[in-house]
Amino acid sequence: MNFNEEYEKRIKEIENILRRFLPAGGGYQKVIMEAMEYSLMAGGKRLRPMLMLESFRLFGGKGRIIEPFAAAIEMIHTYSLVHDDLPAMDDDDYRRGRKTTHVVYGEDMGILAGDALLNYAFETACKTFELEPDASARIGQAMKIMAEKSGIYGMIGGQVVDVRESGQKISGDMLDFIYRLKTGALIEASVMAGAVLAGATADETAQMEQIARKVGLAFQIQDDILDVTGTAETLGKPVHSDEKNEKTTYVTWKGLEESGNEVARLTEEAIGLLRDTGRDSDYLEALFKWLIYREK
Ligand code: IPE
Ligand code: IPE
Ligand code: MG
Ligand code: MG
Ligand code: MG
Repeated sequence: MNFNEEYEKRIKEIENILRRFLPAGGGYQKVIMEAMEYSLMAGGKRLRPMLMLESFRLFGGKGRIIEPFAAAIEMIHTYSLVHDDLPAMDDDDYRRGRKTTHVVYGEDMGILAGDALLNYAFETACKTFELEPDASARIGQAMKIMAEKSGIYGMIGGQVVDVRESGQKISGDMLDFIYRLKTGALIEASVMAGAVLAGATADETAQMEQIARKVGLAFQIQDDILDVTGTAETLGKPVHSDEKNEKTTYVTWKGLEESGNEVARLTEEAIGLLRDTGRDSDYLEALFKWLIYREK
């Protein structure tokens, strides 16, 4: 398998899906549609919709039911970034190679564009009820997963502790809690919703959650590493944001080398669990490996 070719193919597929589900029209509130599109269509690795589509296929999913959900998870993720960059949070001026949404549209519209993306994600996912009326049980279950993993027991919960504890020395246990929620939860939601929509069993869905938990933790540790070792040009966002905000990270806790080892170890474990599913997971495995060595 040529990984780069396969990756690009999937990126194109996801960009097309996103474009199809962009909000259209608008009256006096048109500016918010522009701000939503500005942040959503700025590129990015599209990791979460990619994981969702792969998980859907892993369990034999067919049809277009997955597409609104793939768009929705990227909207939720993008909203989390728009808000994460606000002056009251990480206060960063660049994202995905462009000025952040609040810098271009103002802080008020930055807040509202984030809110709008979150709400529109669920409006978009609701479209599946019309696409496949017979699948309403699966759709409802996927919606529940996405709602919970985005909320106070998921991404928002992690962001709360991350922001609250900035400037404090925190325990490894609390750091793992933050990463599992602020970053892991949406990655878990992606593979779980994909599995559920394909008709996977509860056990299979739980198995995917365990895999994603390891990938999510590895992904955030690598993000911390890149904040120190990367360049703003390649990352498309500022480096040393964590230092500026006095965050305890895996890098400040364990050092660069040990953090890198942890990323590799977690990824190997995730791949082991993936192989245990006995399904054709070549691309997912290659994607997990690619994430370890990613530069953005
Ligand atoms: C950035 O996520 C925030 C984290 C959870 C580390 P990504 O690194 O997936 O950002 P994009 O989507 O590629 O811009
Ligand atoms: C953010 O973590 C995770 C989110 C839920 C947005 P970071 O604050 O480290 O993400 P970046 O480095 O700004 O992308
Ligand atoms: Mg942050
Ligand atoms: Mg940040
Ligand atoms: Mg970061």
